[in-house]
Amino acid sequence: MTNQKKFLRYDRNQLTCDGVPFAELAEEFGTPLFVYSASAIRDNYRRISRAFASAKPLVAYSVKANSNGAIVRILRDEGSGFDIVSANEMDRVLMTGVSADRMIFAGVGKTADEMRRALKAGVREFNVESPAEAARLNDVAASIRKIAPVAIRINPEVDARTHRHITTGKKENKFGMSLDAARKLISSISKMPGLRLEGLHAHIGSQILSDQPHEEAVGVVDKFIGELVAAGHPLRTLNFGGGFGIAYHEEEKALDLRHVAKIVCALAKKHGLELILEPGRSIIGPAGVFLTRVEYVKYGKSHPFVIVDGAMTEMIRPALYDAYHEIRSVKKSSPRSKRVNVDVVGPVCESGDFLALQRELTIPESGDLLAVLDAGAYCSVMSSNYNSRPRPAEVLVDDGEAHLVRRRETKRDLYRHEVVPAHLE
Ligand SMILES: Cc1ncc(COP(=O)(O)O)c(C=O)c1O
Repeated sequence: MTNQKKFLRYDRNQLTCDGVPFAELAEEFGTPLFVYSASAIRDNYRRISRAFASAKPLVAYSVKANSNGAIVRILRDEGSGFDIVSANEMDRVLMTGVSADRMIFAGVGKTADEMRRALKAGVREFNVESPAEAARLNDVAASIRKIAPVAIRINPEVDARTHRHITTGKKENKFGMSLDAARKLISSISKMPGLRLEGLHAHIGSQILSDQPHEEAVGVVDKFIGELVAAGHPLRTLNFGGGFGIAYHEEEKALDLRHVAKIVCALAKKHGLELILEPGRSIIGPAGVFLTRVEYVKYGKSHPFVIVDGAMTEMIRPALYDAYHEIRSVKKSSPRSKRVNVDVVGPVCESGDFLALQRELTIPESGDLLAVLDAGAYCSVMSSNYNSRPRPAEVLVDDGEAHLVRRRETKRDLYRHEVVPAHLE
C-alpha cells in the first residue's frame, strides 16, 4: 500500500506537484528544496475543521511545525487560529494581519519579556505549565495593569505510544503539571489578581496514531473538570492540543479523526466549554516534499550508499526520531527495474546523516532527483547551517503555479552575524 496523496502524481513518468513537474522546480530553484502544496494544506485544515465542526472549535495551527509566512497566510485565509511557543512566533503571525486574540501562547519557558509582549498584544490564552510560570505571569500582568487569561496545562499521565522524544503527557516529561500540582495552583489563582483562570490544556504528544491514548486522556480530563467545577472553579475553555498522527510509512494509517473528534467534542459539550485544538503536523506534514539530487552512488562492502545533496541539516527527523520518510524517484522507474537495499545519505560529516537506511530502491544515477515525502512539518524549521551549509529554498505550489516563499541562503548569510575582533582582522 502506498501513501496516497492527491497532489502527487506521475505524469509522463515524471512526478508532479499539483501538475508542476518536480524536475522543473529543481531546474528553476535548485536543490535541495522544500516544496509545499497549497491545495494539500487547505484540504488538511478543512478535514480537521470538519471533523470537529459540531463543537465549533478554534483550530489553532501549531506554528512551530512550519512557520513560513506563506503557510501562515494560507491558514489565516482559512480562518485558522495559531498556537505559538515564543513571542517571535507571535510577531510572525501578527505580521500577516492575524490578531492576537486568535493566538494561544504555549511553552514551558516563557520569559518575562515574552509575557509582556503577548499581554500587550492581547493573546487569547496563555497555557501555563508551572507555579513559577504562573507567579511570573501574575507579576508581569500586574506591572502593566493587565489580566492574563490562563489555561493550566495538565499532564494526564497517558502513554501516547509514540517516539519517546515526542511524548509529552507522562510524568517524566518536562511538560504540564500533575493533577495534584494543578489542583494546588488552581486554588491559588484567585489570590493572583493578574491571572484569570479560563480553562485546561492537555496535549499528550505528537504523531499519535491510535485512538486509545486520546480516549484515556479524555477520561482523565473529564473527571478532573468535574472535580474542579464541583470545587467552585468554573471553566470556559478546553484545549485538547494537537498530535494527530500522519502516515509516514506505506504500511501506516493516519489517525482516523472521526472517533477522537466525537469523544473530544462530546467532552467539551458536556461541560459547556469552548474547544481549542492545536494541530501542526497533520496540517502541514503531508503537504511538503523535500527534493534532493543524487550526487554519487558508492558501493560499500555490505550495500550501496546513495549520496544526495540533501542532509540532516535540512531533514533532522531521521537522526533525531528514527523517523521514516517515504522516498520516491522523480523519474518513474520501470516496474521491471531491480530494487536493492540502500542507505540514502547526505554529505554531512556525521554517521547520523541519513534520510533512509536499508531502503529498497532502484539504484539511481548521478543527477537523478528523489522526493522525500511528508517533509512539511518539523523539517525546514529545524534546519541548521552545520558544515556551512546554506539553508535551502522553499517553494509553494498554488493553483498550478510555483512561488518562491523562502530564498536559498547564500554564502554571505553564513557569516553575516559573525563579529571579527579588531586584533584578529
Ligand atoms: C503544546 C503543543 N501543542 C501542539 C503541538 C503540535 O503537535 P502536532 O504537530 O503533532 O500536531 C505540540 C507539538 O508537540 C505541542 O507541544
